[in-house]
Amino acid sequence: DKAGHRHFMSKEIAEQPDVLANALKYYTTDREGRHLLETGVDFSQFDRIVMVACGTASLACFVSKYWFEQIARIPVEIDIASEFRYREPPLNDRTLTLFVSQSGETADTLAALRYCTGQAGKVVSIVNAMESSIARESDLALPILAGPEIGVASTKAFTCQLAVLASLSLQAARQRGLLDEAGDRELTDQLRRVPGQVTEALAIAPQVQAVSAQLARYEDVLFLGRGALYPLALEGALKLKEISYIHAEGYASGELKHGPIALIDEEMPVVVLTPHDAMFDKTVSNMQEVMARGGKIVMVSDARGLKDGGDGVWQMIEMPKIDGPFAAIAYAVPIQQLAYFTAVEKGTDVDQPRNLAKSVTVE
Ligand code: M6R
Repeated sequence: DKAGHRHFMSKEIAEQPDVLANALKYYTTDREGRHLLETGVDFSQFDRIVMVACGTASLACFVSKYWFEQIARIPVEIDIASEFRYREPPLNDRTLTLFVSQSGETADTLAALRYCTGQAGKVVSIVNAMESSIARESDLALPILAGPEIGVASTKAFTCQLAVLASLSLQAARQRGLLDEAGDRELTDQLRRVPGQVTEALAIAPQVQAVSAQLARYEDVLFLGRGALYPLALEGALKLKEISYIHAEGYASGELKHGPIALIDEEMPVVVLTPHDAMFDKTVSNMQEVMARGGKIVMVSDARGLKDGGDGVWQMIEMPKIDGPFAAIAYAVPIQQLAYFTAVEKGTDVDQPRNLAKSVTVE
């Protein structure tokens, strides 16, 4: 049932404020805004976290690496399951392994999990399907509570994975004695504001749709971001190619001049994800490098960012103002919608893109 939407993908994008609120409530909040759930993971027992997943789920891991390392000061290694499983990486009981999978049935992720069983200190999974093989075979399975996701392109599962990982990063920081009362409260509040920010981000759909009508005419698109927005740039590119069949790549903004800048011309729009944060000025200078070479920028930022850095850009998308490390969650919305509206504009099969399966159960 598409609940009045033309596609499951659009329904699932729209559901995000509700499912995120649910997930965050489950993992983080009581009246005092403290963690309610005793997840059963003691992060003070581990020296590092190894996260393994495929596709969009692996990009959720990549975003959360920034949180775990910056907030909880625990080293995080991320890998895609198809590489991890054959590399035979060394593990020990001070290593926490974390497997993220919407379906819980992805063959490579399951094989990687089996490799870790008996070698790692703990095998934890973060899944949407709690009756899945991955959930069953882990020491502990944590639900993302996104509800059924039908569209092949992962949307609400991605943001719910982020919400759970963000909650765990706060729990880790707390258990490792890194949060004082005030810091704890502030970060918890920032996390609780996410569903509201996602609602605001959904409201800018008309702007995103107008940009998509333009993007649909191009054959290549570049996505740039810094910090936790870098893996989001990768996700923006994945989403766009997956459903609109436009070739897209994501790069860290700072990598631009190490190669991809050679591609820049008026035929390859560059989507820049940049809240007005500590990295903003650096990203603006990367944008200027693109514009100086005739490149067309789609700038996704807040009102202040667009005002301070928007001179000469081709298209603007105005996000709400978001403080703190979790901005990446709400910034997922415009990149999902960019892919969605571009695909609709091109008339591709949004929910069932060619050559793709919802759950990849073969290697
Ligand atoms: O079910 P999983 O989360 O393990 O699936 C992993 C990937 O196959 C999946 O995220 C894929 O990349 C999506 N189609 C992306 O939108």
